[in-house]
Amino acid sequence: MRAVDIIIKKRDGLELTREEIEFFVRGMVSGEIPDYQVAAWAMAVMLRGMTERETTDLTLAMAHSGEVLDLSQVVPIAVDKHSTGGVGDKTTLVVEPTVAACGLPVGKMSGRGLGFSGGTIDKMESIRGFRAALSVEEFLHNLKTYGIVLSAQSANLAPADGILYALRDVTGTVPSIPLIASSIMSKKIAAGAQAIVLDVKVGRGAFMRTLEEARRLAEMMVAIGKLSGRRTIALLSDMNQPLGRAVGNALEVKEAIDTLHNQGPEDFVEHCLVVASYMLVLGGKAKDLESARLMAEAALQDGRAWDKFRTLVIAQGGDVSQVDDPERLPQAQFVETVTAPRRGYLSQIDAQQVGETSLLLGAGRTKKGDPIDHAVGVLVLHKVGDYVEEGQPLFVVHANRREHLAVARERLLAACQWSEVAVDPLPLFYGVIG
Ligand code: URA
Repeated sequence: MRAVDIIIKKRDGLELTREEIEFFVRGMVSGEIPDYQVAAWAMAVMLRGMTERETTDLTLAMAHSGEVLDLSQVVPIAVDKHSTGGVGDKTTLVVEPTVAACGLPVGKMSGRGLGFSGGTIDKMESIRGFRAALSVEEFLHNLKTYGIVLSAQSANLAPADGILYALRDVTGTVPSIPLIASSIMSKKIAAGAQAIVLDVKVGRGAFMRTLEEARRLAEMMVAIGKLSGRRTIALLSDMNQPLGRAVGNALEVKEAIDTLHNQGPEDFVEHCLVVASYMLVLGGKAKDLESARLMAEAALQDGRAWDKFRTLVIAQGGDVSQVDDPERLPQAQFVETVTAPRRGYLSQIDAQQVGETSLLLGAGRTKKGDPIDHAVGVLVLHKVGDYVEEGQPLFVVHANRREHLAVARERLLAACQWSEVAVDPLPLFYGVIG
């Protein structure tokens, strides 16, 4: 078998066999298939798609490209969650410690930034010393000891996804249902949790632009999860405007810390409570969503969720003094407020444009392995539906290069649309699959 023939077959829109998919994934991991062929193949998949059977085979091949953990060795049941990628989506940073604080162990493998969306691992690495590349032994040890662990792909867990993910990030091959489904579900299967809540984003700042596409992706992932014997559900959630206020790594960590201190933005808090509630029910900790929500609210309010977050940071080598005093997190040199050029109701704050502005400031990568600037990003001070007076603050730009300020201002203002008449706020969720 030759990699080039598999690329050509997919380029021509034909269905790959399981053997061909397994050969390709093996070659990707062993290094026999070089990055340029993997990237060409990813583009062929992106443009030609995959059948359900191919997607399932790809997921299983990627999950088995490293070890597949059996968490029942260390905890009776563990739960996991994963987002398909959004702008300002720092949900894991709040939900993981909240659920763990309710006594349900959370073992999660996360990704880095992807395209214009942020990545949990990049955010956590704003904290000096935080180590996400854990060995399997460390993953299991931390889950058992602390009930919480947050890992990046490592040489041991779903390494094929690590390779493909970094290439997709910089080759325009992110928004593909089979590539997203296999990326997420291979990590979930390898990390071993028995219950999985998927947060499938839909809208202008998501890889799935329409509810129909998001639903297809959700159904595909839920089916793969169930096939692998995991309790799996997917929430369809809005990503037309950024989630919460902060977009950019350290800024998002700070917002997560505020939320864990009960001072988070209303939409983000609500989003976290809903995701946490589903995790608690699916993991068998709560009998229904109402009691799950009360549990999650209590863990946030009495500081147990915050304590768990500190535990996570300390367990993975992070400098806890930076989360105790977020002013010690990376800070940008230039901070500028962008004000409203007119009065009216905000009818759009395009999440993709805000995400791309954050990338332009240096919060993401344009080439594989690029360093990122943890300090930079944007605060979004209003939501769709808000009435804003001319001259009122709309955004705050955090930059480390002065020349970025003007470009960011222009892009952010272009992200907004205005209405003379009142506009309804956007919903947070559109449905549940599973
Ligand atoms: N998150 C992932 O882990 N992979 C994707 O492809 C998209 C979001």
